Amino acid sequence: MMTITAHPTTTRPAYTPARAMKKIVILGATSGIALEVQRQLAHQGRELLLVARSPQRLAEIQADLAIRGARQILTYSADLASVQQHAGIFEFVQRAFADFDTVLLAYGSMHDQKDSETSVDVLLEELTVNFVSATAILTLFASDLEQRRTGCLAAITSVAGDRGRRSNYVYGSAKGALSLFLQGLRSRLHPAGVRVITIKPGPVRTPMTDHLANSARFGDPEQVARDIVRALERRSPDVLYTPKIWRYIMGAVQQIPENIFKRLSF
Ligand SMILES: NC(=O)c1ccc[n+]([C@@H]2O[C@H](COP(=O)([O-])OP(=O)(O)OC[C@H]3O[C@@H](n4cnc5c(N)ncnc54)[C@H](OP(=O)(O)O)[C@@H]3O)[C@@H](O)[C@H]2O)c1
Repeated sequence: MMTITAHPTTTRPAYTPARAMKKIVILGATSGIALEVQRQLAHQGRELLLVARSPQRLAEIQADLAIRGARQILTYSADLASVQQHAGIFEFVQRAFADFDTVLLAYGSMHDQKDSETSVDVLLEELTVNFVSATAILTLFASDLEQRRTGCLAAITSVAGDRGRRSNYVYGSAKGALSLFLQGLRSRLHPAGVRVITIKPGPVRTPMTDHLANSARFGDPEQVARDIVRALERRSPDVLYTPKIWRYIMGAVQQIPENIFKRLSF
């Protein structure tokens, strides 16, 4: 039998603006969306710890953000998709940036769907990068924030995770599973006062989508970053659609009956 326990809101420490975002860890600092987020956070004089694969790109980004006003910028080079490297990343964060209060997970990959249909290796890599490794590293940060009873975890999933489509269901299923994971994590961390934000962008102009038809008409990464920074500052909403219109588009898409949806070729 399932027992449902509601946690009274009085057990949750109230957030005050003074406790809000000061020290932010960005996982996937070279992503087109993360770059814009980091520029806006630097402009606000925040402290940043950036994790990404390329030490050279990290050094370039660090120099750029210093000019833009970031108070402190630490970098750590690692492959976030490799779960074996997570302990090293987390140990560095705890040592060099111990009282971090916000984590933004921004890395991800989108292979051509056809490649995942013909190669199980590509399929597994897509699931590992976008789901398995993401949940593994979020779990390390979640336990730390839960113990300290403070902070905010945010992760970029995608509107592609809201419904399985013929043209990108492998990427979509990884993102959908990550959204579900975040939903459960949010409930787990709620009694500790730790916020969990699920970020669902629609298509955005970044290196991930450069090669796609109509990419010039995709969302502006600067606007998406503004929405993300605002959500991190306010620690709400729980689920952010960005640009906002995608909340309504996906609401409508989810209403399409399955026997019609399966015939749609997009
Ligand atoms: N652009 C869109 O239309 C869109 C829409 C919805 C959701 N999203 C999501 O938003 C997030 C940011 O994407 P973006 O648009 O900013 O894409 P992007 O510019 O292509 O950035 C992708 C990031 O993920 C890292 N990455 C890719 N494959 C990796 C791997 N195998 N191992 C480790 N790191 C890897 C990249 O690192 P390197 O720089 O080292 O390659 C880079 O930091 C992703 O989670 C993406 O799925 C994007």
